[in-house]
Amino acid sequence: MDFMAFGQNLRVDNALIDHEHQILIDCVNRLHDAIVNGDERMVVAKTLNDLIVYTQTHFYVEEELMRIFNYPAAEQHRQAHQYFKEMVLRVQVNFQQRVAMVPDSLLQFLKEWLSEHFLHVDKALADFLRGKALS
Ligand SMILES: [Fe+2]
Ligand SMILES: [Fe+2]
Repeated sequence: MDFMAFGQNLRVDNALIDHEHQILIDCVNRLHDAIVNGDERMVVAKTLNDLIVYTQTHFYVEEELMRIFNYPAAEQHRQAHQYFKEMVLRVQVNFQQRVAMVPDSLLQFLKEWLSEHFLHVDKALADFLRGKALS
């Protein structure tokens, strides 16, 4: 069973955003599997990096949608993305410097933060975008 499931409850009903969230969840599940299976550092590093790269891509897409359509709550949404990126990048730096392994608490943080963000912050954006050209 996957560590993080993309259940109906996490969908925001925007095809593009939901598609990208599915990919993000796949990245989280791959990182989880690599850690739980005790894969080599290189494998863990790669899955963590894939997650970070895709997160940046996805956040950029949402931020562009907010910019194009003048989304009123764009600044708070951007700050939430910024917070998440900083948290995950800090873990990556510690891991790369061999200060620490990827902590299990990161997995819990990823699951909880992303679920909460999808459910509330991204859902609000998707609702705003509904009926607009790109939604
Ligand atoms: Fe978002
Ligand atoms: Fe999102």
